[in-house]
Amino acid sequence: MINFKQEIGVGISKATNISEEEILGYIEIPKDKANGDYAFPCFKLAKTLKKAPPVIANEIKEKIEIDENKIQKIEIAGGYINFYINKNLLIKEVLEEAENNEYYGSSTEGNGKNIVIDYSSPNIAKPFHIGHLKTTVIGGALYNIYKYLGYNVTGINHLGDYGTQFGKLIEGYKRWGKDYDLTQNPIDKLAEIYQKINILCKEDEKVLNQCRENFRLLEQKDEYSVKVWKEFRDLSIKEFQKIYDLLGTKFDSWNGEAFYEDKTDEVIDILKKTGKLVESDGALIVDLSDKGIDTPCIVCKSNGSTIYATRDLAAILYRARTYDFDKCIYVTSYEQNLHFKQIFEVAKLLGLDEKYTKGLEHVAYGMVRLPTGKMSTREGNFVKIEDLLKDTIKRASEIILEKNPNLENKEEVAKKVGIGAVIFNNLATSRVKDEIFDINEMLNFQGETDPYIQYTYVRTKSVLEKVGTIPKFKDINIDSLNDEYSQNIINLIYNFKDILNQVIEKNEPSILSRYLIDLAKAFSLFYNENKIICDDKMIQDARIYLTYITGKVLKQGALLLGIEMPNKM
Ligand code: ARG
Repeated sequence: MINFKQEIGVGISKATNISEEEILGYIEIPKDKANGDYAFPCFKLAKTLKKAPPVIANEIKEKIEIDENKIQKIEIAGGYINFYINKNLLIKEVLEEAENNEYYGSSTEGNGKNIVIDYSSPNIAKPFHIGHLKTTVIGGALYNIYKYLGYNVTGINHLGDYGTQFGKLIEGYKRWGKDYDLTQNPIDKLAEIYQKINILCKEDEKVLNQCRENFRLLEQKDEYSVKVWKEFRDLSIKEFQKIYDLLGTKFDSWNGEAFYEDKTDEVIDILKKTGKLVESDGALIVDLSDKGIDTPCIVCKSNGSTIYATRDLAAILYRARTYDFDKCIYVTSYEQNLHFKQIFEVAKLLGLDEKYTKGLEHVAYGMVRLPTGKMSTREGNFVKIEDLLKDTIKRASEIILEKNPNLENKEEVAKKVGIGAVIFNNLATSRVKDEIFDINEMLNFQGETDPYIQYTYVRTKSVLEKVGTIPKFKDINIDSLNDEYSQNIINLIYNFKDILNQVIEKNEPSILSRYLIDLAKAFSLFYNENKIICDDKMIQDARIYLTYITGKVLKQGALLLGIEMPNKM
């Protein structure tokens, strides 16, 4: 397919002698089509070229060499240059490609590049909370999109399955384990045991020491401790799996923190040799104040135990060697900003190639709250995600029953709508924003929600069903799609690939969510303003064809976010 943006970028690059990459980074897609299909903000070059934006604009317009069949008009508006592409050529390109390519928008540009995504990563024996739902969904979407663009992706569930807290949990289990039936809701019960032992530890120093001893035993692979720990792990994974099954989440690796337990010595050795690992109150730390990070990174506690950060450093070494990553992305809430700043800085001391330390990226997201404000795990007033998902499915099925009582496969549809609504809600706004998890809001069919997108998709399906056969592209009269509503859809469909690139550039799936809402809205307008099924066969065929392509892109886009489309609802 013709890459109009690229053509413009090359033209400006040649006219200004500035790299194509830089120029392409500045090219905008104006919201208002009156300002062209693409716009170049000349003020971006004012500093480099030491000229005023309107002067730059004039010079570029004078000098630029561009295929007039592709770009039909170039206009200057203040400091901007607006480019208008050949509409008929655009329509032809988009529609032909969308017909021929089953994976429309996919590419091979990522071939040969390795991406590691660390997401979900809940802590065993602790509830999977709303924050983990968010990393699961964001990580899952990024996973799909990188893959679609040809990257070799490894998804890792870096389970929180190690740490001194297991010394406590083992102690609690020893004391009260027999009072609990762990075959039912094991995580709730383990969490309860953990709370109880924590209280006891605060009251009684002896108990706390026993917990420390238990952890030491676990570190030394003492048989009983390992057996109990493994049971906690297995029970937890089984519970997490229920949520992953509902959400359709997959991982390539479940190497959690415990996996790195025997790999932290190497980290400490390397760091010792750099001379940057210093003792402080008995602990081993790396001072990062010269890097603008006030809190030092603790690598080894005074009792000799490693911590979360140490295991993350070992994981960086391991992942660099095992996956030879170009990017290693961590999806967690912004509460861990400091942690990742610290370990990314310390990772530079591990003797790794710069490729790896440069490829480390923390993808942070905001907090999620229920309308009631509940979410904390420490105080125990957490909500169970599994219940939350099931509630949403139930609510979706009530709405569906009301709207379409005769629908077949109501349960299956309710699941797609309910789960889709939750997934979309987690991806709908820019990830760093805090957000409220409100079931009614996310299931609003008229809102900017997943059900709205699904409903629009179902609409395309029912139009196609009415006419029976979908015309072929070669039989379509392109001039029949020259109205504003059709044009709008075609422009959006053309931009799909660019949107996917923007998503991975910023690791921001909400760009795709936003796009799907825009496309659904554009289709609703097209549907309301244009009679699709009409007396003029030529116009009808063109509109049917566009309806078909719109449905195809809506479905593919949603799938990349992890959302399935019902055929009817
Ligand atoms: N288990 C951690 C938590 O629940 C998240 C782990 C993120 N991944 C990592 N490599 N640190 O907060």
